[in-house]
Amino acid sequence: MKIGIDRISFYTSHYFVDLKTLAEARKVDADKYYVGIGQEKMGIPAPDEDVVTLGASAAYPLMKEGELEEVELLLFATETGIDQSKAAGVYVHGLLELGPRCRTVELKQACYSGTAAIQMALGFVARNPAKKALVITSDVARYELGSPGEATQGCGSVAMLISADPRILAIDPEAGYYTEDVMDFWRPNYRSEALVDGKYSTMVYIHALIESWKQYAEESGRELTDFDRFCYHIPFTKMAEKAHQKLCRKCRVKTSREDMQHLLEESLRYSRITGNCYSGSMYVGLTSLLETGEEDLTGKRIGLYSYGSGCVGEFYSGVVQPGYRDVLFGDQHAKMLAERTELTYQQYEDIFHYGVPTDGGDYIFPQYKTGPFRFSGISQHKREYESLVDE
Ligand code: CAA
Repeated sequence: MKIGIDRISFYTSHYFVDLKTLAEARKVDADKYYVGIGQEKMGIPAPDEDVVTLGASAAYPLMKEGELEEVELLLFATETGIDQSKAAGVYVHGLLELGPRCRTVELKQACYSGTAAIQMALGFVARNPAKKALVITSDVARYELGSPGEATQGCGSVAMLISADPRILAIDPEAGYYTEDVMDFWRPNYRSEALVDGKYSTMVYIHALIESWKQYAEESGRELTDFDRFCYHIPFTKMAEKAHQKLCRKCRVKTSREDMQHLLEESLRYSRITGNCYSGSMYVGLTSLLETGEEDLTGKRIGLYSYGSGCVGEFYSGVVQPGYRDVLFGDQHAKMLAERTELTYQQYEDIFHYGVPTDGGDYIFPQYKTGPFRFSGISQHKREYESLVDE
């Protein structure tokens, strides 16, 4: 039985900052961002958006098409948790009007947890082939103003339906994974911005890739040349390119500039203009590959490398299914990205400093342009959400 990704839908905020604007404010050459790290824009969530609204908005197109009716498992992957106890997925469960017969839980391991969720969902469907799982990755990547990580900020969510006989990607059974206790990137509970040892994090990312690949290659017997495309975790697009070059060198596979372009470029297009989406970054890359590539990828094998600082890495793969183009949301995603509003530097800073009140009072938040759901306020320490679906 094939199991894998049956539908995939992505969402990012309506607002962005062009990295040329940031470069001017930070007095650096814009090419450091555009060329050096390969990023052009960073998505910025409005004050009335959070991982719940981003996640529910990503899944909303599936809800509208009646695809969520057989969902009995909701796995919500995030690094940007909003509560120490209650899973963000439970709020999303309510907003999406899912049935009460559903297991819902939140998963965390930096940017890796989306892949852990997928692997768990595959196990669930293997035991319950008639049932479906909904995996939602949702994050806001936030670093201190003026820090080296600032230009890699972003936000977004990916919702994936996992089922038997998937219409998009049948996931291969083999996987290679790697865990090591390191401090390359972390965010203590009392901070809203991540701490990162930037250069070290890029080295650990690559080390975990090589180790994950070794296990994957041993188990599958496949070689790098058996893949038609690769999707990497994308903290910034240059990272994915560097990682692939290193892996090719390790495997003694020659790669020209044209090969790199062919194997990776389509998967980097969305991330270049949304920024890092942490747990969803690799899946934003997969969406970008499937939706923006010219070539029909039916029957092609995609290599997938997921990395979460701290750290856990995993390499796995899947085969694109016939008819996949008929079930994508490419037009909606292109429209969403094209219709975003650019922020000035001052607007960006104002939004950055807009903190969620913590005193337990009653607050109604100003309404910005959001998707179908908004984080409307707080009352007695309880988050309140609003559905704008019928407006
Ligand atoms: N024109 C063209 N290129 C330029 C340039 C210019 N004017 N100025 C600089 N560059 C190049 C540099 O040569 C460099 O290229 P190389 O890496 O090929 O040498 C590149 O631009 C970046 O410049 P710096 O190395 O000087 O950049 P930095 O030190 O200020 O910041 C960073 C880079 C440390 C990665 C920083 O962006 C950061 O801390 N990011 C957050 C952490 C991160 O994303 N880590 C990735 C691995 S961890 C992970 O993947 C998990 C996760 O999601 C966080």
